[in-house]
Amino acid sequence: MKKLVGFVGWRGMVGSVLLKRMLEENDFEKFIPVFFSTSQVGKKNPKFKKKILPGFLKDAYNLEELMELDIIITCQGSDYTQKIYPILRSSGWLGYWIDAASDLRMNKDSVIVLDPINGKNIKQSIENGLKTFIGSNCTVSLMMLALGGLFRNNLIEWISFSTYQAASGGGSGYIMDLLQQVYCLNKYLYKNLDLSTSILKIEKDITKIMNKNNFPVKNSLVPLILNLIPWIDSRMNNGQSREEWKMEKETNKILKKKNKDIIKIDGNCVRIGALRCHSQSFLIKLKKNININDIERIISNDNKWVSIVPNEKSESLKKLTPLSITGTLKIPIGRIRKSSLGQKYLSAFSIGDQLLWGAAEPLRRVLKFLL
Ligand code: HSE
Repeated sequence: MKKLVGFVGWRGMVGSVLLKRMLEENDFEKFIPVFFSTSQVGKKNPKFKKKILPGFLKDAYNLEELMELDIIITCQGSDYTQKIYPILRSSGWLGYWIDAASDLRMNKDSVIVLDPINGKNIKQSIENGLKTFIGSNCTVSLMMLALGGLFRNNLIEWISFSTYQAASGGGSGYIMDLLQQVYCLNKYLYKNLDLSTSILKIEKDITKIMNKNNFPVKNSLVPLILNLIPWIDSRMNNGQSREEWKMEKETNKILKKKNKDIIKIDGNCVRIGALRCHSQSFLIKLKKNININDIERIISNDNKWVSIVPNEKSESLKKLTPLSITGTLKIPIGRIRKSSLGQKYLSAFSIGDQLLWGAAEPLRRVLKFLL
């Protein structure tokens, strides 16, 4: 019998990307979808391929309805998870919970899912009766897919990273801020950008506009356009941001590494004005000296999404920018070279779509494992 799969938070950015991917891959043929809403209960179900699915949106807070489901997949966010998950479990619901939010990731009964990396562990966990499957933080999944071969062959001693994270990672409000900021500057530039105006005068005017109180920064708090934000998420006691903290913690949980086997990973997470691709720069200390050709072979053989961009300017500009990767499942990694620090130090740069491999795709794929 086909399983009943409940969708919560499918209208937001991650949820919409998830549904689009599921439609592309004909996933809906394999189960019976039930659509829930926290705000539009009773309205019509979504339209797929120009056809509205029969039925109406159910109440995402109605426990009786939720208890009937075999699987719940939620992109609704932390508040929903915190409110509903514990009640459902304590009421004896034994279904599978798939979640994009971070709250349950580090629980001992949860599996962080990124199947090209930990597919065997996911299968084993299902056999062992685990029921809670959570997508990893986007920077973690994108890093792990890019460096999968090095992780799999246990070649990494530590990683130092810098991220260049897209507006989409902060939510749709962040993208809206960024676009309003573009619009606001454009109103000035439309009238003033001509060859007769001194560039320094324009630069001064623009800076003044960006510093005004009415510059649109509702979500980003400070301008993101022509600027960057060197802090993502809350502060941890050790001075890391939570986003930075997740890199080591989630990576090692995915790899099931503990105690002395833990791979040390630390760096700075930074928001930039890209739309939906996160980029990351890595300095990797390898456990041994391996030549670049072998490193590239190990990386590119690991999974079908990662690809090597030759360490040349023209190739990097063509294939290693957020713009060239947006909306795709590609994980290019380039700028691969031995660092001047020594033969065991590898420098590399990689990119991935934050909404696809960074959020929706691992959830879509784990659902297939559970079906
Ligand atoms: N935490 C990420 C970001 C989004 O702020 O870019 C993660 O899925």
